[in-house]
Amino acid sequence: TMSSPKASEYGSQASPLRQPATPNEITKVTILGAAGGIGQPLALLLMLHSEYVQHLALYDLVHVRGIAADLSHVDRQCKVTAHLGPDELTEAVRDAKVIVIPAGLAQKPGMSRDDLFGSNAKIMYNLAKVCAQVNPSAHLAIISNPVNSLVPLTCEVYQRILGAGSRKEKSADSNSALSQPAAPPASPGAAAPAGSSAQKSAGKQQQQQQCFHDCCRRIFGVTTLDVVRASTLSAKSAFFKPEPNGLFKDPAKIAIPVVGGHAGKTIIPLLSQSTMKVDKKRLIEEKATTLTLIESIQQAGIEVLNAKKGAGSATLAMAYSACRFTISLLRAQQGEPNIIECAYVRHQQPLVSDLEYFAAPLVLSKDGYVKTQGFSLNKLLPYEQQMIEEGAKELRMSVAKGEDFAKEQL
Ligand code: NAI
Repeated sequence: TMSSPKASEYGSQASPLRQPATPNEITKVTILGAAGGIGQPLALLLMLHSEYVQHLALYDLVHVRGIAADLSHVDRQCKVTAHLGPDELTEAVRDAKVIVIPAGLAQKPGMSRDDLFGSNAKIMYNLAKVCAQVNPSAHLAIISNPVNSLVPLTCEVYQRILGAGSRKEKSADSNSALSQPAAPPASPGAAAPAGSSAQKSAGKQQQQQQCFHDCCRRIFGVTTLDVVRASTLSAKSAFFKPEPNGLFKDPAKIAIPVVGGHAGKTIIPLLSQSTMKVDKKRLIEEKATTLTLIESIQQAGIEVLNAKKGAGSATLAMAYSACRFTISLLRAQQGEPNIIECAYVRHQQPLVSDLEYFAAPLVLSKDGYVKTQGFSLNKLLPYEQQMIEEGAKELRMSVAKGEDFAKEQL
């Protein structure tokens, strides 16, 4: 059932000015691609959350020592370290609780996110390999585009490196493997249960499936910017009355699940599921207004690209969104309940036809996401369902592209 999350359940409401709690251990967050347009403001924002982050590790191929020196003067109880080039990557990711990845090329006007695949797949592949080898239990927040392909690519890399078996073995016994309830992480390569060799191999397959899922529960494609845009653009739309002082409604009070993926038509804001009541009749009757709003959310990235005239893509609202997502991961890791964020992840049981990868509202925990927050197709308006069907076609191709790339390398 679709119980819409309350606004207070959505994202980080933590104040950056909260007093630091004395931590039992130092929480390390790593940014891969820290010198970029997103990486730099993200590092600054994370530093302001020193009650959650006490060590910020900045990795890039360029400029990162200067950026770390600069940031290290901010008066927060947070250590900043610089890691320059591949030789220093292992040290950067070791012991991090969250690894945020905005490494790679960004769009230029006229480019689609998919146009970045050629360069960014290779970058992501190399980074993912080191993360899986050095620190497989860290939570990964993948910002680099195309998110729709790079998350499946990364899951494939983790699956191979952590010995979770091949995809072929999976389809042989997919039903029983998929119907297993979530179990605590199985250690890769652990002994198969005793019994006949057939039982043994079935057991091993199940274990591999579970192991694969446990890896993937920690690998997130960051779609928070789409959620943030959905809140803000809706708050400013005709569907919400302005405040008495003329200002638009507080977007933080309007949580709108955004499902599907992170590119064009795969970005599907579910206005009917807003936490602040929208008149569903109006959403249907004023369909033109609704579709204009949806399109403005989907095209918001392009609007920024064009306005910046080649000087970059969205970086500031993105850094804000990535910070919120990272803090939510950390809060969930520390055992705070009811932390919900939308993200693009692999699902053990597909939410939409046979699509394994799909963005949805997720309940986060210390071991990655636990479940979706009541996403149910049949509660949606007809045109929302239609958008999901359309988006699914594109997603299916993007997923295959990422998986195929990883398989060719391995
Ligand atoms: P940028 O070009 O300003 O920064 C990218 C950084 O990555 C640079 O500092 C570069 O040196 C670094 N880099 C390149 N190869 C690397 C490697 N192998 N290892 C480590 N660092 C490496 O780009 P920007 O604006 O920061 O965007 C980064 C990515 O985020 C792009 O792929 C962009 O498309 C994506 N993005 C995703 C969004 C989302 O909602 N998920 C929104 C906006 C951008």
